[in-house]
Amino acid sequence: MHIHPSETLPRHHKETLLGQKGGVLWFCGLSGSGKSTIANALEHVLHDKGRFVVRLDGDNLRTGLNSNLGFSDDDRLENIRRTAELGKVLASNGVIVLCSLITPRGAFRDLARGILGDDFHEIYVKADYATCEARDPKGLYAKAAAGEIKNFTGLDSAFEEPQEPNLVIDTETLSVQDATFEILEYLRTKRLTV
Ligand code: ADX
Repeated sequence: MHIHPSETLPRHHKETLLGQKGGVLWFCGLSGSGKSTIANALEHVLHDKGRFVVRLDGDNLRTGLNSNLGFSDDDRLENIRRTAELGKVLASNGVIVLCSLITPRGAFRDLARGILGDDFHEIYVKADYATCEARDPKGLYAKAAAGEIKNFTGLDSAFEEPQEPNLVIDTETLSVQDATFEILEYLRTKRLTV
């Protein structure tokens, strides 16, 4: 055993241990567009292939780390900043991180990109407002239409479409399985899985 207490263990040693490259897939899109569903399916597939994955989901983080934050622009920005910083720690230790947050503004995505640098991969999970409203998995669109939710994304709080995402996943046409396949292809081309 080698003992070098003053040397930091390099990232690539952990990546070699895990047999993968660290990175953050940042899923953005409207509530109900399918971000978490796709991240969940992808996590299962990658796990079965022997990859080590951590999911960071807006809804879940908002019950803990980000429980003091709401849906004003300032709070959303802080929500995204903290998540990006956490993703950075994980990715730099070789982990494949799947972040699912609405991330509704270009400026918010720029912040995450700035924190994560080359580890940032922007995936736009695309479905329009009417489609997400029809799905309404959490009943939030009905509440928003009834005026019970303020600053609701796509209604009285803007969603700016990503201009140059690394990948677009159109969930109006793609099944969860097809979406997962496309992302796996992307990971292969970027050599995130070795
Ligand atoms: S973000 O804008 O800061 O990126 P995040 O993804 O963490 O948002 O949280 C969005 C989730 O919070 C939605 O999926 C929904 O379940 C819930 N939510 C509650 N209030 C709102 C709101 N006003 N706008 C959007 N989502 C909301």
